[in-house]
Amino acid sequence: MDVILLGTAAGGGFPQWNCWCPPCRVARTDPARAHPRSQSSVAISADGRRWFLLNASPDVRDQLRHLDGRPGDALRHLPVEGIVPTDAELDHTLGIALLREGRRLELYATRAVLEVLNHDSRIVPVTYAFARVVEHELALEQPAELCYHDGAGSGLVVTPVAVPGDPPRFARRDLPGHTVGLLVTDRATGRTLAFVPGCGGLDPALAERLGAADLLLFDGTFWDDDEMIRLGLSERTARQMDHLPVGGADGSLARLRHLPCARKVYTHLNNSNPMLVEDSPERAAVRDAGLVVGDDGMRFRL
Ligand code: MLT
Ligand code: MN
Ligand code: ZN
Repeated sequence: MDVILLGTAAGGGFPQWNCWCPPCRVARTDPARAHPRSQSSVAISADGRRWFLLNASPDVRDQLRHLDGRPGDALRHLPVEGIVPTDAELDHTLGIALLREGRRLELYATRAVLEVLNHDSRIVPVTYAFARVVEHELALEQPAELCYHDGAGSGLVVTPVAVPGDPPRFARRDLPGHTVGLLVTDRATGRTLAFVPGCGGLDPALAERLGAADLLLFDGTFWDDDEMIRLGLSERTARQMDHLPVGGADGSLARLRHLPCARKVYTHLNNSNPMLVEDSPERAAVRDAGLVVGDDGMRFRL
């Protein structure tokens, strides 16, 4: 399985268009010390040619240049065979509507996510006015194979796992499965990717499951619980926004450092997170714990 980090920033991107917080300032004035990043999305492929998007970000148009496209036989060719959102948040789903020229889009999501996309954000009916959106409902804890447009199985099997959090602010209902992590196993190799870009907590049971993955991509939104409050950017803590902070005695770094996964990478990085700055002490702490801060365009082969 090939895995490409198409985007590694949280909603708003990095630097965020309207922000002059310390990391955004560095990204604007000295980008070698804080690499600009687009909004969080991952592409996976079993054959290096046909890709599935895990989340479709508002930056999807620029991000697709990372996929190895060959000139196709068809006049209109899309190297994207399907989209698998982890939730219905705007930064993970606005890209669905932006791919409407694809004419036919395969969407793999839980019933809860499909409900929000159909009835609250209305991204699916809006897209459907331009393209046929084919919904494939995923059930929590049920492995499902991702299929190519022609119906053939890809050998990539995805299992959605509920993670702690609340539904998007604009969702009218709180249904189970509104926010999931994705475990993706390649049948050909037995290797597993765990993709968890938004996670409000990490109990030992969830940590153990993630630890079984060969590559873990985990929520690196905030460093401190009160980061946004201290900067005067929000009145809510990281945990109140359903993101377990990276730092601190009970943060994710203290727990993930002990997991046996070969590679552990933070993604969905909010622009306020000091670990975005290459020479920061926070970045050194991540490195010393054996983890990596994700960057756009990073590739992995499992
Ligand atoms: C989040 O990650 O908490 C959401 O994407 C919030 C947002 O869309 O602003
Ligand atoms: Mn987000
Ligand atoms: Zn900022």
